[in-house]
Amino acid sequence: MSNISLEGKVAIVTGAGGGLGRSHAKLLASLGASVVVNDLGCSVDGSGETTPAAQVVVDEIIAAGGKAVANMDSVTDRSAAANIVRTAIDTFGGLHILVNNAGILRDKSFAKVTDAEWDAVIDTHLNGTYNVTKAAWPIFKEQKYGRIVMTASGSGMFGNFGQANYGAAKSGIIGFAKALSHEGAKYDVKTNILCPAAASRMTENLMPPQFLEKLKPEAVSPIVAYMCTEEINTNGAIFEAGAGSFAHANWARSKGYKAKDESGVASVDEIASAWEDIMDMSEPKVLDNPQAAMAEFMS
Ligand SMILES: NC(=O)c1ccc[n+]([C@@H]2O[C@H](COP(=O)([O-])OP(=O)(O)OC[C@H]3O[C@@H](n4cnc5c(N)ncnc54)[C@H](O)[C@@H]3O)[C@@H](O)[C@H]2O)c1
Repeated sequence: MSNISLEGKVAIVTGAGGGLGRSHAKLLASLGASVVVNDLGCSVDGSGETTPAAQVVVDEIIAAGGKAVANMDSVTDRSAAANIVRTAIDTFGGLHILVNNAGILRDKSFAKVTDAEWDAVIDTHLNGTYNVTKAAWPIFKEQKYGRIVMTASGSGMFGNFGQANYGAAKSGIIGFAKALSHEGAKYDVKTNILCPAAASRMTENLMPPQFLEKLKPEAVSPIVAYMCTEEINTNGAIFEAGAGSFAHANWARSKGYKAKDESGVASVDEIASAWEDIMDMSEPKVLDNPQAAMAEFMS
């Protein structure tokens, strides 16, 4: 029996018909949340919409004594995304938690990626996250309570070969989440970011089998569930999770270099000779808001 309870809370998990979303939905339900299990049931590249994957997960949750309802809307369709939120209100009478998780891949090196592959990935991850969050936000703001988990990726933090579209979408999600963390703070709406690593159909061709064995989706979900609690005290933070490891990740700035001239205008030669200082990460500074970041530069 867990000390953490989500009893009385209503959650949406998008893309919860399989992989990480299924695992998150089942854990949230086991902690007492009523869960809208959303998934349009598509293949990993976003095509086809036939498998009632969401209903299978709902049946598993109900069989385990939990509360859940299936929703097959696509996060990419703005009015359908609003219907995901409406399903929570109509079925369970409210909404407190949103886990944006739905995703697809269309991996190709940038030279080969088509406009359609670029659009599909941006649409599902970045616009899909926007669509559902936009529908949930007024409810959270009005009731002065909400917990949002945004699913980003190491690809969005560091970039990855063959994932220009995916990396762009995922780093867009990080910027989006960080903006919401500032805007939601006074309403107790907390938005945190997950960068997971897990074996799923999305990663089965990307990682070697000996890695995949260790990367259970269930090993990621506990930190997601914690991000969904009243107790969570972070807002706008990035968490990496996989294979039983959990860490907070953040941007860091080097000690840096200050232009010699008071005008602040350095010559290119000066930049070239200061390059080592600019690059020196031996004393990194972590800054968590743009005002602090700017103030540090101005001081
Ligand atoms: N598995 C990893 O190692 C990893 C790493 C980094 C980020 N992620 C992210 O985690 C999330 C879950 O990925 P996963 O590995 O479980 O993959 P997955 O393919 O198993 O799950 C994604 C789910 O999203 C659903 N989906 C796709 N488009 C949708 C849409 N328009 N509307 C509703 N549902 C839709 C799919 O049907 C699928 O069930 C994704 O956002 C992914 O980018 C995963």
